[in-house]
Amino acid sequence: MSFFSHQTLETKLPLLIILMAVVVSIGGLVLNIPIFFQDSTTKPVAGLKPYTALQLEGRDIYIREGCHGCHTQMVRPFRSENERYGHYSVAGEFVYDHPFQWGSRRTGPDLARLGERYSDEWHRVHLRNPRDVVPDSNMPNYLWLATTPADAGTIVKRMGALKILGIPYTDAEINAAPTELEGKTEEDALVAYMQYLGMTLKRTIR
Ligand code: HEC
Repeated sequence: MSFFSHQTLETKLPLLIILMAVVVSIGGLVLNIPIFFQDSTTKPVAGLKPYTALQLEGRDIYIREGCHGCHTQMVRPFRSENERYGHYSVAGEFVYDHPFQWGSRRTGPDLARLGERYSDEWHRVHLRNPRDVVPDSNMPNYLWLATTPADAGTIVKRMGALKILGIPYTDAEINAAPTELEGKTEEDALVAYMQYLGMTLKRTIR
C-alpha cells in the first residue's frame, strides 16, 4: 500500500484535512491572483475622475451615517436590475473607491446609478424627511446634515491618504480642498456625492 493510496488518505484524517486545505487554497489562488493583473479590474473606466473634495466629504458622511447598511451600490447583470437601475456596474468604475461601497443589503434601492436621477432639492427634502417625498418610506431623517458645516479641517489629510493609495490627486487639488469646503454643509457634500454616483458610465452608455 503506497503512502498516497486511498486507504491512507481516508483513514488518516489530519493528512486528509491538510491535503484538502492545500487543494482548496490552490483553487482560491488560481481564481483570485489574475484579478490583480486584469485591465478590466485595475484600470479606471474611460472618463472616471477621483471624487472632488466636496464629493469625498460626502462619501465620508455616507460611510459615517451607515447609509451602506440599507443601500447597495452595485447593479448586478440581471435584466430586472438593468431595467430598474440602468447599466450593470463594472469593476473599472470603482478603482478610485477606497473602500468601495458595494454593500450587501437592500432595505432601500440600489444607489449605484443614482447620479442626476433626482434634483438636488429633491435630495435635500428627502434627507430631512424622506416621507415628504415617499410617504411609505422607512428611511431615517438626517436633519443635522443641513446645519453641520463640512469638515474642512481634515480634508487635506484624507485626500493625502488616498493619494498614497494611488488616487491621482494633484497637490494643487489637495491644497485647494479646504477652500472648496468653505461655507458648505454636510448636506451639500452628501448631495454632491450622490449626484456623481454612476455618472461616468451613465454619460456614455444608456
Ligand atoms: C434603515 C434603512 C435606510 C438607511 C439607513 C438609509 N436609507 Fe435611504 N432609503 C431607504 C428606503 C427604504 C428607501 C426607499 C424609500 C424612499 O425613497 O425613501 C430609501 C431611498 C433612498 C434614496 C432614493 C433612491 C431612489 O432611487 O429612489 C436615496 C437617494 C437614499 N435613500 C439615500 C440614503 C442616504 C444618503 C443614506 C444615509 C445618509 C440613507 N439613504 C440611509 C432606507 C434607508
